Amino acid sequence: MNCKIGIPWPSAVGYVSEATGEWYLTFITRQWVTGCIVRGKGCRSKQLFLWTKNQASLKGNSSPSQGLPSSAQALSIHIDGNGCGREKWREPMKIVVIGGTGLIGSKLVKNLRERGHDVLAAAPNTGVNTITREGLAEAMDGAQIVVDVANAPVWEDKAVLEFFETSGRNLLAAEAAAGVRHHVALSIVGSERLPDNGYFRAKVAQENLIKASGIPYTILRATQFFEFVGGIAQAGTVDDEIRVSPALFQPIASDDVAAALADVAVAPPVNGTVEVAGPEAIPLDEVVRRYLRATQDTRKVVPDVHARYFGSVLDDQSLTPGVNARIGAIRFEDWVGQQAR
Ligand SMILES: NC(=O)c1ccc[n+]([C@@H]2O[C@H](COP(=O)([O-])OP(=O)(O)OC[C@H]3O[C@@H](n4cnc5c(N)ncnc54)[C@H](OP(=O)(O)O)[C@@H]3O)[C@@H](O)[C@H]2O)c1
Repeated sequence: MNCKIGIPWPSAVGYVSEATGEWYLTFITRQWVTGCIVRGKGCRSKQLFLWTKNQASLKGNSSPSQGLPSSAQALSIHIDGNGCGREKWREPMKIVVIGGTGLIGSKLVKNLRERGHDVLAAAPNTGVNTITREGLAEAMDGAQIVVDVANAPVWEDKAVLEFFETSGRNLLAAEAAAGVRHHVALSIVGSERLPDNGYFRAKVAQENLIKASGIPYTILRATQFFEFVGGIAQAGTVDDEIRVSPALFQPIASDDVAAALADVAVAPPVNGTVEVAGPEAIPLDEVVRRYLRATQDTRKVVPDVHARYFGSVLDDQSLTPGVNARIGAIRFEDWVGQQAR
């Protein structure tokens, strides 16, 4: 078998059209690739190509008579150490993303659809509301997996607690009634370590409801999103100065959070918590300084060990992950450079 590929890709995703039998795959890569021939059961013709720098596509015809299950629509290709591909057909799943129109939700919906799943982006503006229960039972109908990335509209202590408790209760009850097999929620690294912070208390309450629900679950705790750094600067602003803690901070790109969530969602439930964080731990005052520099903001950043982070004094362990955390690929410096452009 003459396969040649630039790097050992872990996987690719694709779809088959039931109407025409045509299928295609999309590979995402960070490097140029040279080419590959993919052969295997269930596929008749295979031509790979249409290379661009970050993406390659593969088109062909499926042949159900050769072993492809007629209901299978999602295809993944695993590339072995020689760069040869082997395809695996699997059933697409119905996945409901609560908060599917938000920052993380919209990226997650896209990622899961690219993997061939049937994904419902659920939010009040698509007719699904976890507080009023509008559209909730209908959304759950036939769902195997639910990922909760909803966020409260108001972050005042009492309001945010009420949001996550009511939303969590309504959602978990609807999932239990529909027989959902995996509940995934996005929470925050270190939530239980900062009890002075009302938002963190609400996230701990949300996690406790999930743990008590009896539904198989995975909680993914992420560190702060890069997108949140501007808000931290704003919250620490007094006149023309920004006073923030110099405690270690390990923020993450929202793209990396969405990718980790997608992996967790389609994997078996762990009935526990996993963590994900950005690739670098940097003092918070320095992160804010880099953000301001990139956005040409001239305000002065003053490190202050007593400065409160939304009500809490931080140390180097407050917001940083444990040793087993999954680590995202995107560096703050690269992300912030792109925002500035
Ligand atoms: N910010 C951070 O650094 C950080 C770190 C770790 C974890 N997290 C967690 O990440 C999650 C997602 O954050 P995000 O920034 O992506 O949020 P976001 O952009 O504010 O999006 C929130 C989503 O929730 C939906 N929503 C609001 N009320 C709802 C309701 N009653 N029923 C159903 N959906 C509702 C919104 O829909 P509409 O647009 O229609 O209102 C929107 O789709 C949050 O749970 C947060 O705690 C955040």
